[in-house]
Amino acid sequence: MKVLVIGGGAREHALCRSLSQDPSVTELHCAPGNAGIARVASLHPVDQLDGAQVLDLAVRLGADLVVVGPEAPLVAGVADPLRAAGIPVFGPSAPAAQLEGSKAFSKDVMAAAGVPTARSYVCTTPEEAAEALDAFGAPYVVKDDGLAAGKGVVVTSDREAALAHAASCERVVIEEYLDGPEVSLFAITDGTTVVPLQPAQDFKRALDGDEGPNTGGMGAYSPLPWAPAGLVEEVLESVLQPTVDELRRRGTPFSGLLYAGLALTSRGTRVIEFNARFGDPETQVVLARLRTPLAGVLLAAGNGTLDQLEPLRWSEEAAVTVVIASEGYPAAPRTGDPIEGLDEAEADGTAYVLHAGTAADEDGRVLSAGGRVLSVTATGADLAQARERAYAGVGRISLKGGQHRTDIALKAATA
Ligand code: AMP
Ligand code: GLY
Repeated sequence: MKVLVIGGGAREHALCRSLSQDPSVTELHCAPGNAGIARVASLHPVDQLDGAQVLDLAVRLGADLVVVGPEAPLVAGVADPLRAAGIPVFGPSAPAAQLEGSKAFSKDVMAAAGVPTARSYVCTTPEEAAEALDAFGAPYVVKDDGLAAGKGVVVTSDREAALAHAASCERVVIEEYLDGPEVSLFAITDGTTVVPLQPAQDFKRALDGDEGPNTGGMGAYSPLPWAPAGLVEEVLESVLQPTVDELRRRGTPFSGLLYAGLALTSRGTRVIEFNARFGDPETQVVLARLRTPLAGVLLAAGNGTLDQLEPLRWSEEAAVTVVIASEGYPAAPRTGDPIEGLDEAEADGTAYVLHAGTAADEDGRVLSAGGRVLSVTATGADLAQARERAYAGVGRISLKGGQHRTDIALKAATA
């Protein structure tokens, strides 16, 4: 089968890596891709937000499946003309992608579906925001209503900072603070059948010890040895299936990847947010452990035949990924710096480098081209070994001003 992947981050590199290892994939294309994806797929320069361009490319390539990776094209409706043209596509329609595109919409869906989440208010004026902040008290949680690449959320005990963030957004969701460890659980769905993947944990803050600003994600690991038994089944029943059923009931079925960001609070599991696509960097570790060839799974979601899929097979190994970000990320990432040591990082075969924001110059040198630059991934017999291997890879890479966290999976590996 010929597969076209839309996007160009580490998530898409992880998807392309898995697809390139799937014997049923005869041709692999990616648009626009990046310097690392170029090693496993043919790249095509398209505007990924332009549905007509993406459709034209898919038709030209004779793609049997199009996988739309990032949220921006999904929210922009890039999946819709593909589906209308009868091309199997992995990724929700524009209306269904509002589950990620609008926090207010997702709160509404959760309320209708009886899905447990933080209590919240939608506010459009400073007065409403102040009232909502005082209703919940500190710590304050203020979320930009729209898409913000994981950076629209401010969690702070500083009331002035909370008010300032609210004032900088047109519409905000202010909600109660959820205590407890976070889990990312992904499910593949065709709009009816829901197939959960293995849980992972993401590290959202920029600095060690969960300090610093929120980012798109600085590292991840899977499995979660500390997670309660039965977590996946519980979330399937109380969160994933009801949400998919509610969107189908509304006439906007959600097909693709439903990502539940969860907090395991003392009062039970609560949804922090939904995303409408594979998470980054969690995908890197989840796919590192998936043994079932990926293309058939994504195609079954696109074709509406997930009910016929064999149960997924998983490796017993643990996986860890560590993100290398550029200087100044997330506020003002600096780009255009050469990256050294990419081959050395993979030399002993235990770690591999997934590219996020990279580009090749005329001489074939790889340069940083975004906030998150690389995601160094490794598997091992347990988290400690996977961690050791991933960090050994990170240690061989040099990027001027590059930053990474040193405590990804540390607590879970030593618990
Ligand atoms: P989101 O973009 O909604 O996932 O938020 C990004 C991060 O902010 C989450 O991963 C949490 O670490 C934090 N966060 C969001 N909402 C809450 C909440 N209600 N209580 C505590 N932390 C939150
Ligand atoms: N890792 C968080 C996200 O993908 O939104």
